[in-house]
Amino acid sequence: MSKIEAKDFSYLIGKVEAFSEAQLRAHFGLYQGYVNKLNEIRERLGKADRSTANYSFSEYSELRRREPVAYNGTVLHELFFQNLGKDGDVSPELKKAIEESFGSYDAWMTDIRACLASAHGWALLVYDWNFKKVQNVLVQSEHHVGLWPNMSVLAAIDAWEHAYMIDYGTKKPDYIAKVVGDLNWKVINERFSKINPR
Ligand SMILES: [Fe+2]
Repeated sequence: MSKIEAKDFSYLIGKVEAFSEAQLRAHFGLYQGYVNKLNEIRERLGKADRSTANYSFSEYSELRRREPVAYNGTVLHELFFQNLGKDGDVSPELKKAIEESFGSYDAWMTDIRACLASAHGWALLVYDWNFKKVQNVLVQSEHHVGLWPNMSVLAAIDAWEHAYMIDYGTKKPDYIAKVVGDLNWKVINERFSKINPR
């Protein structure tokens, strides 16, 4: 399997009000770590002995159990960095879908902020193909608990401590207030129009 390359998000430096350069660079380094681990896991999976697979322990089984951590750690960070850097506003189509699910855009904003406050992980705005509506989900544990089947991620927001400790210390509410204002709605709208749920 070919190696995955980490994407370059350095264009965000100076463009995102919520984060200093030091905070962003530390976060990019952490993201690179997930990419490295994903490559390492997949390389080792290629050679691991399938005949020893076992619920309690085997190299193959352990690699398979850790794979979603590195995979989601990679992909959720990419979705998050891509949807940062304030640009545009929510599109009429996505706003309508949000209003159908939450009653109003403000009610959605209140809910996503509550998700972030609840999170030791991620808050996501997703399109739920099972019930044909947008909703917020909370992804916790190690990037992989709380991701449900048949969901398209529209917006990802990181609420792990490493995302804000350099700039905000333990003032998580200050971080939440700031980061929701730094969403790139142009990117989020495009994700919604690409999946074209209507
Ligand atoms: Fe992160």
